[in-house]
Amino acid sequence: MDLSPIDKAKFVAAKRSVEFISSGMRVGLGTGSTAAWMVRCLAERIHGEGLDIVGVPTSSRTAELARELGVPVTSLDDARWLDVTIDGADEFDSALALIKGGGGALLQEKIVATASDRMIVITDAAKEVRTLGRFPLPVEVVPFGWQTTKALLEETLVNLDVLGREASLRMNDDAPFVTDEGNFIIDLHLQRIGNARQVGLVINQIPGVVENGLFVDICDVVVIGDGDGTVQVRDINEGEVREESYEFLDDDNVFRDIDG
Ligand code: A5P
Repeated sequence: MDLSPIDKAKFVAAKRSVEFISSGMRVGLGTGSTAAWMVRCLAERIHGEGLDIVGVPTSSRTAELARELGVPVTSLDDARWLDVTIDGADEFDSALALIKGGGGALLQEKIVATASDRMIVITDAAKEVRTLGRFPLPVEVVPFGWQTTKALLEETLVNLDVLGREASLRMNDDAPFVTDEGNFIIDLHLQRIGNARQVGLVINQIPGVVENGLFVDICDVVVIGDGDGTVQVRDINEGEVREESYEFLDDDNVFRDIDG
């Protein structure tokens, strides 16, 4: 199997991120294509080294993948508090504020990440932005009265420090996209979010809004992969940046840590 450069980037970030995991940990399992690599890397350590962990999936998709790969899972209600969550993101800035929810799982992702001692984001460099907002901000809303909620969202944006104000209902072919919680997603095309904390708080005040995809002061570490095998690890609490390098072995698709 030949991996594209973007998949290689996602793979090395995922591979590096599971080095943060040790036996006994309760681990939040993110959603999306990068998080799926992480679940595979975790499964590899579970079966190869006997790593003993329990995962809390952030979506039905991730739960299914984890079960398929033999990663033990439980519910957040069972686990209550987690040691770490590893997840992807759609955008991140230098303060490690994020936009998430491109895959529509932002609600469970935010609950799980907030219930974790640490959140590690795995990504490629293209998702780093100076100011959040290029990626449309997903807002999860209850289906009841969603058109009114959308109108209220648009009205609210007029008074916020954002550039664009267009809102669109996320579709799945001809029907609205429905989240794991049975809700809809309204994507806000803001282009530039001047004050992410304020925008997140104000949006959540609107009746009908369940949660938004802005993660501010939640992420602790970002692991940035590159298709050439380079990985950068940034820890916002330690103020530390580490560059590492992996060698991709064509025959088995496994990156081997060479500089570590
Ligand atoms: C899922 O709802 C999202 O928050 C994902 O974490 C995000 O969209 C990143 O996905 P990819 O890893 O597929 O880019």
